[in-house]
Amino acid sequence: MSFLTLENVTHHYFNKNNYTKALDDISFSVKEGEFVSLLGPSGCGKSTILSIVSGIMNQTSGRVLLDDKSITESELAIGYMLQQDYLFPWKTILDNVLLGPTIQDNVNEELKEKAKELLREVGLQNVENQYPSSLSGGMRQRVALVRTLITDPKILLLDEPFSALDYQTKLKLEDLVFKLLHAYQKTAILVTHDIGEAIAMSDRIIVMSANPGKISKTFEVPLELRNEMPFLVRRHPKYQSIFDKVWEELNKSETRTV
Ligand SMILES: Nc1ncnc2c1ncn2[C@@H]1O[C@H](COP(=O)(O)OP(=O)(O)O)[C@@H](O)[C@H]1O
Ligand SMILES: [Mg+2]
Repeated sequence: MSFLTLENVTHHYFNKNNYTKALDDISFSVKEGEFVSLLGPSGCGKSTILSIVSGIMNQTSGRVLLDDKSITESELAIGYMLQQDYLFPWKTILDNVLLGPTIQDNVNEELKEKAKELLREVGLQNVENQYPSSLSGGMRQRVALVRTLITDPKILLLDEPFSALDYQTKLKLEDLVFKLLHAYQKTAILVTHDIGEAIAMSDRIIVMSANPGKISKTFEVPLELRNEMPFLVRRHPKYQSIFDKVWEELNKSETRTV
């Protein structure tokens, strides 16, 4: 059963004198527990889709349903993680993690324990009283992940969360996020322009093209790759052939716009 559904979603950004058609007739759905990637060149509307799904922005036309309710009426928690970690430098790691619940006046001892437990799970024991400036980029992004998970979101939106990190850190974080999201059986949409990352992390890849943003093709990741850890997927004998197919599709849509 589909958990999230986008039906004929179109979006225009308007400014004083003209407008940009950022999304043109986007339809897809995501099942509960599924991990889907949106893959495409810069400007093809990936972040616009996540902003609409998160409810921050309204689409110009079309429908977005989460668990059969309009996204604007849904009360299910949505987790949103971005390329930048947006940690407050003057707050401790624990206070940063508890930011959402603090705003909603929901903090109690149990939640504090849960925050510490999640920090331990991402390999960050004993940092809760430190400040973001004393942590590396990869550690800060792990804090951002914990802050996203603490509200127990029903769907996670990940907008290029690894792209500001060095390659080794990125590969390690891919494994960590994959492991955690599978353990908690989370539904997730990952936005990326990295073909390898899309294959390594997801069950399904939605390839987009730009001007205006459209879906050009959807690829199912072979079953043998889906349950492997991302690091191992890249070495799997079946990896190269799906990589080549996705590459070809991305190339096709790029030549259309050049
Ligand atoms: N706030 C905005 N105002 C005007 N145009 C925007 C705005 N945000 C994005 N766009 C335009 O919409 C298109 C899609 O952008 P975006 O969703 O950010 O793409 P992506 O995340 O795939 O790089 C691009 O042409 C971009 O320039
Ligand atoms: Mg973007």
